[in-house]
Amino acid sequence: MSNDPLVPSNPDDFEKLIALLCQQSGYTVTMPPANTKGYDIELKNGVQCIAVQVKNHKAKCSIAQVQKFQEYLDLPIAARFSSGWFICANGFSQSALTHVETERPNNLCLGTYHNGTVVWNYPKSHEAEAAIAAATMSAAIDVQRPLKYIGVFTCKGGVGKTTVAAHLAGAFALMGHDVILVDLDPDKNLRKLFLQDPTDEDGDASLYVPPKMKGQEGATITVLNHDQWNEDHYKDTKIVICDCSPVLTENPRNLVEKFNYCIIPTTLNPLGIAKHADVITRTFKHIRQLSVDAEMFAIINSYDVSKDAEKRNGVLLDHLQRHIDLYAATDSKCQLIHPDAAKIRYSVALLYWGYHIIEGSKPQLAFRETAGRSYPRTDFLQLAEYLENHTDIDKLRDIEHVIFQPRE
Ligand SMILES: Nc1ncnc2c1ncn2[C@@H]1O[C@H](COP(=O)(O)OP(=O)(O)OP(=O)(O)O)[C@@H](O)[C@H]1O
Ligand SMILES: [Mg+2]
Repeated sequence: MSNDPLVPSNPDDFEKLIALLCQQSGYTVTMPPANTKGYDIELKNGVQCIAVQVKNHKAKCSIAQVQKFQEYLDLPIAARFSSGWFICANGFSQSALTHVETERPNNLCLGTYHNGTVVWNYPKSHEAEAAIAAATMSAAIDVQRPLKYIGVFTCKGGVGKTTVAAHLAGAFALMGHDVILVDLDPDKNLRKLFLQDPTDEDGDASLYVPPKMKGQEGATITVLNHDQWNEDHYKDTKIVICDCSPVLTENPRNLVEKFNYCIIPTTLNPLGIAKHADVITRTFKHIRQLSVDAEMFAIINSYDVSKDAEKRNGVLLDHLQRHIDLYAATDSKCQLIHPDAAKIRYSVALLYWGYHIIEGSKPQLAFRETAGRSYPRTDFLQLAEYLENHTDIDKLRDIEHVIFQPRE
């Protein structure tokens, strides 16, 4: 939400306010049907037809969000729009502005609502800039939507919480969902991994994930700190994934209470397994104390799929399964996902994920293909699919999507 007291905090009201300003500037305003994707307001003025996207987030709008809107404008379904305006309440990240200033798209304008006016950030001398009296909106409308919280938590450090949180977000983004990643770990690794400008620690941490099939919309991953996350300001978001601190008490209680699902990554290594199974049941207990309804899923990370490991893995898995089954007898919402259904394989791509920070290149996921395949991508899509099939998360599915890519 903007610091401007005249900005309504309800997204619908903010949208109406911008619509009114545009109307007062001489545009004919059409509000699209509810749940229209890609834009919020349609403007007409002579031959001009403009798609307007409106955001009243507390954080600055990210490069990923701008890229997503740009890609929407290039889709055949957006062909009638001569240009697109992205208007927000709290400005754009430096990366987003650098992005448009370097690419110089001629069909895109970025503006910030301030004190009754839209101030254009790009291009600077936009003709539509005009001082318009502020309109105040009343009647807050409560937006009901199926927002789902997924916590990635375990009491044990270094078993892949951050890796799983980021790439599960990547899998949902590939499926067309905008995802918010809330970084609860005091180390702020997730933030660092998605930072657009490594020299600006508080800057834009986001990623635009292009669509996998032509003609579809891409999606965004946005990393926020706990205090930047506000349900009411991200009305397009249906999935929030929290990368937790391994110290339960360091995670804000009010957020853990909201977890619909909790993913508990674990490795299947012989040395730690007896102790480790105990870590998982302790984790179940911790989460249950705070969230009565959360469904909890332990998933094997760094799984060794080689033939050599098959027998050992079987023995270790039986041991772990017995331990978890014993616990699940008292809490049926806790389970171990069998690796045949979903697992995260050990991969060099995941081991070296984060190299871009050292190299100084842009954020990326470990979904790059090697010889036409990406095991991390397949594994995380499979985990997302497992969640869709075993929870009510599939209610999110309101767009056509293909989970598995055809092999080339
Ligand atoms: N499937 C995998 N294959 C190979 N390496 C992996 C895999 N998953 C995680 N790693 C590596 O393991 C290390 C620890 O992972 P990560 O940082 O995600 O764990 P964490 O649980 O978030 O740790 P912390 O408790 O410190 O927050 C990282 O170096 C990561 O690259
Ligand atoms: Mg971590």
